Amino acid sequence: MSDIDKDKVVETLNRILEAELAGVVRYTHYSFLVFGYNRIPIVSWLRGQAAEALTHAQQAGEMITHLGAYPSLAIGRLLDSHQHDIGTILRESLEAEGAALLLYKDLLALVEGRSVMLEEYARQMVHAEEMHAGEVDKMLRKPGDLSAVRAAS
Ligand SMILES: [Fe+2]
Repeated sequence: MSDIDKDKVVETLNRILEAELAGVVRYTHYSFLVFGYNRIPIVSWLRGQAAEALTHAQQAGEMITHLGAYPSLAIGRLLDSHQHDIGTILRESLEAEGAALLLYKDLLALVEGRSVMLEEYARQMVHAEEMHAGEVDKMLRKPGDLSAVRAAS
């Protein structure tokens, strides 16, 4: 196996860390703004997403220090359209999750065939984020509508 380009890998892991931390803030923020009959399960789902984003941020940070590098203290872009109907929240989530997925795919391309540990990690995260985006996509469909909202990548 050839060596990884450590600087590029750390740079990508730091973008992932920042994106996941933005997810923690975004999902927590959204969870305060759900009103109506369906509030309880949707708030619970959003808080679950915030917790998962925190776990993902922690995993990325641990990878950075594993490589002997310094984890970013910055936070990724926070989307807030100030429209808090559930459709807008879910569409913003899908957009942000799509951006995180691309970062994990960038990481996979950097480490594929070079580091079993990092490749395994990147593959697991691509799997987790694609499944997650698929779940949000299903939530955005009208009942009975089989076609995906977003194009498959
Ligand atoms: Fe994530």
